[in-house]
Amino acid sequence: MQHQVCILIVEDDPTIASLVGIVLREAGYRTLHADTAADALRLAETNPFDLVVLDWMLPDTPGVQICTALKERAGRRFLPILMLTAKGELSDRVTALDAGVDDYLSKPFYIEELMARVRALLRIRAAENERDAAMAALEAQNDALRVANEQLRTMQAQLVQSSKLAALGEIVAGVAHELNNPLAIILGNAELLSPQHDPEDQRSVAQIIESAKRARRVVQSLATFARRGPMAKEWTSPTDLIERVLDLKRAALRSSGIALEVVCSSDLPMIWVDIPQMQQVLLNLLHNAEYALAGMPAPQVWLTVVRGHAEKPPLPPAQAASAGGAFVCFDVADNGPGIPDHVIERLFQPFVTTRPPGRGSGLGLAIAYGIVTGHGGQILINTQAAQGTAVRVALPVDPPESVSGQE
Ligand SMILES: Nc1ncnc2c1ncn2[C@@H]1O[C@H](COP(=O)(O)OP(=O)(O)OP(=O)(O)O)[C@@H](O)[C@H]1O
Ligand SMILES: [Mg+2]
Repeated sequence: MQHQVCILIVEDDPTIASLVGIVLREAGYRTLHADTAADALRLAETNPFDLVVLDWMLPDTPGVQICTALKERAGRRFLPILMLTAKGELSDRVTALDAGVDDYLSKPFYIEELMARVRALLRIRAAENERDAAMAALEAQNDALRVANEQLRTMQAQLVQSSKLAALGEIVAGVAHELNNPLAIILGNAELLSPQHDPEDQRSVAQIIESAKRARRVVQSLATFARRGPMAKEWTSPTDLIERVLDLKRAALRSSGIALEVVCSSDLPMIWVDIPQMQQVLLNLLHNAEYALAGMPAPQVWLTVVRGHAEKPPLPPAQAASAGGAFVCFDVADNGPGIPDHVIERLFQPFVTTRPPGRGSGLGLAIAYGIVTGHGGQILINTQAAQGTAVRVALPVDPPESVSGQE
């Protein structure tokens, strides 16, 4: 709908006010009339004018003194003011223009000239409006650009991070390879040196063996993390997988005094996995639970396998119910202290650990994440301070095309 220009006539002389009103309306403008300064300011509170025709001599306040107030009420929009007055001296014209009047017409005046000046002022206002709209559009574009810039910066940082990780993976693989042989020699020779007659020597040799074994464990973890090799997937039953893992871990949990409860639901389909890699994932999770439970009262681990969804697993002692979802879910839960807040955000990044030096390399979950996502699955964690932690490995029953083939 076309905006109808609205003009406020502030004039106490009824004849002039009526004449000006008639010609303006004939020209298609809407008009409002005020015969005092107070009236004009009151009308300006509620009406958005496009122009004011203002008489200097008003009964209450001189028109020239309300210019600023009228313009302020228009806010950021340009409100042109055309002053009509019998005061025709040069000093009067200067005073009016300095007070904020945009144009000036001495009484008596020609109607044609009044209309020409009104049109000229409205043209200036239209140009000002266009400039304001262009500025607003520019500001909006600027905001959008700022947001896009932020996103770009974040993506760039992620890119740098992932290329750093890729480079790190290569370095790690190389270092692990180089360290393997010397470590094997150290271990082999140290084992040959054992047993020793002197107890002091015996202790030293035992320390060498222990330290070399620890170094070998770290090197193996690094090598696993860095491994980009192909997967050898085969169909297996989730229960078989669990049994293989428990063969390796049951005794250790028992000797740590940790109770183990295993529940496998009966409706589990076969899964298409690289068995040693999935074993590694579950072992990493069980290691974490075992470590977290050290020194806890009534330590317990729940290992549950159900059909379900890729969603956070329930915390212990709640048992996951088989929900018939599109995933086979391996839930490893413990009633330990929960995962510390400051590592939760970065858990799947390599080298994030809260363990003392030499006790953990911070690779367990990073490795697990790589393997599980390589199977088209997800890892989800639910943890609560002083209640425990539950980790779900959700593997798709129907693996996506890209991960389902023999690699
Ligand atoms: N079940 C859990 N309970 C409490 N904290 C956990 C649990 N699992 C993981 N965490 C926290 O997450 C951190 C990272 O775990 P991750 O397995 O990646 O490395 P790590 O266990 O420290 O070392 P690594 O596995 O390489 O020996 C741990 O140091 C620990 O703070
Ligand atoms: Mg670990």
